[in-house]
Amino acid sequence: MSQKDIIILGIESSCDDTSAAILKNSTILSNEIARQAVHELYGGVVPELASRAHQQNIIPVVDAAIKKAGIKKEDIDAIAFTRGPGLMGSLIVGNSFAKAFALGMDIPMIDVNHMVGHVLAHFIDDEGKEKPSFPFLCLTVSGGHTQIVLVEDHLTMKVLGSTIDDAAGEAFDKSAKMLGFPYPGGPLIDKHAKLGNPTAFQFAKPRIDGYNFSFSGLKTSILYFIEKQVKLNPNFIEENRNDLCASIQRTILDILFTKLTLAAKDLGIKDIAIAGGVSANSGLRNDLAKVGSELGWRVFIPKFEYCTDNAAMIAITGKFMFEKGLFADQTIVPMARLAI
Ligand code: KG4
Ligand code: ZN
Repeated sequence: MSQKDIIILGIESSCDDTSAAILKNSTILSNEIARQAVHELYGGVVPELASRAHQQNIIPVVDAAIKKAGIKKEDIDAIAFTRGPGLMGSLIVGNSFAKAFALGMDIPMIDVNHMVGHVLAHFIDDEGKEKPSFPFLCLTVSGGHTQIVLVEDHLTMKVLGSTIDDAAGEAFDKSAKMLGFPYPGGPLIDKHAKLGNPTAFQFAKPRIDGYNFSFSGLKTSILYFIEKQVKLNPNFIEENRNDLCASIQRTILDILFTKLTLAAKDLGIKDIAIAGGVSANSGLRNDLAKVGSELGWRVFIPKFEYCTDNAAMIAITGKFMFEKGLFADQTIVPMARLAI
C-alpha cells in the first residue's frame, strides 16, 4: 500500500508579501502571493503598514491557495509558518493565523526559519529538475540577508559567512534610490543593466577577510561619485542610467562571486546553489552558469517564483520538519532575529 500523501499549508509573512501555498508531498499545488504596493510611495517597507496589509490579505490569500490547489481545508495535515527572521508586526500576523488554524482544524503547526526556507526551495519538485546533493553551498541573497550557507542536510546548515553591514538586496535598492528608481529598485537595476556597459564606471570593493561581505563602502562610493558628476552635469544620471546600472550590478556581483568561489575552493564543494530575492537577478543567474561551467560546478538556480519571498519554500521546509516530528505548540512566539 502506498504511503499517505502529506499536505502542508505554508504561510509566509515576514516582510511585505503575504503568501500561502499548498504542498502535496514535494509538489506545489498552489503558491499565492499578495504584494503590497503601498511601500513604493515611501522608498522602503513601512513596518506598520506591512502588518496592517498582512491582516487584510492573509485570509483571502489562504482561501485562494486552498481553492487553486483543488483541496478542502480538512485535507491539510499541518500548517507551516515563518517564525522569523523578519519584521515583528508582519511575523505576528502569520504566527497568529497559524495558531488559530492549527487549533481550529486540530492539526500540528510547524515553525519555519525564513532563511532555511529560501535554501530548501531547491527541493520543490519541478518536472525532473535535479536537486543539489549534500553537502552543497548556497549563496542566500535577499533584501535583509547575504549569507554563504553550508548545507549538510535538509535541516543541518551552517552559515560560513554573512554581511557585516548592508545586504546585497539593500545594496541594489539603495543604489537604485540614488538613481531615482522606486522601491524595490533591484529589478530595475537588473533591467537597465542589460542595456549598459558594466565597465563604464569603477566603484570601491571591500577588503574583508574570510567569507564575510560588506556593501556599505560601495554605497558611499556610488553616492560620492554621483554627487560629484551631477554637480558637473545635472543630466548625468539620465544620460548614463544604463551604464550606471550595469557598473553597479557588476560590482555587487563581483563582491558576491569573490567570496562564493573562495568558499567553494576551500571546501572542495562543487554543488553550488543560489537563493533569495536577489537570485532573481539575471546577471547573477548568467554569471553563476558561466563561472560554474568554468570551475566544473553543478549549479542550482531557483525558479523565479521561488526566489523572492513565497510560501512554497515555507511549505517544503515544513514537510521536512513534519517528517521528523518537529512541531511547535500554541506558546510559540515570532522572532525578528532568528539564526539558521
Ligand atoms: O527574498 P526577498 O523577496 O525578501 C527578503 O527576504 O528580503 O528579497 C527582496 C530583495 C529586494 O532587495 C529586491 O530588490 C531584490 O530582492 N531583488 C532583486 C531582483 N529581484 C528582487 N535584486 C536584483 N535584481 C533582481 N532581478
Ligand atoms: Zn526572503
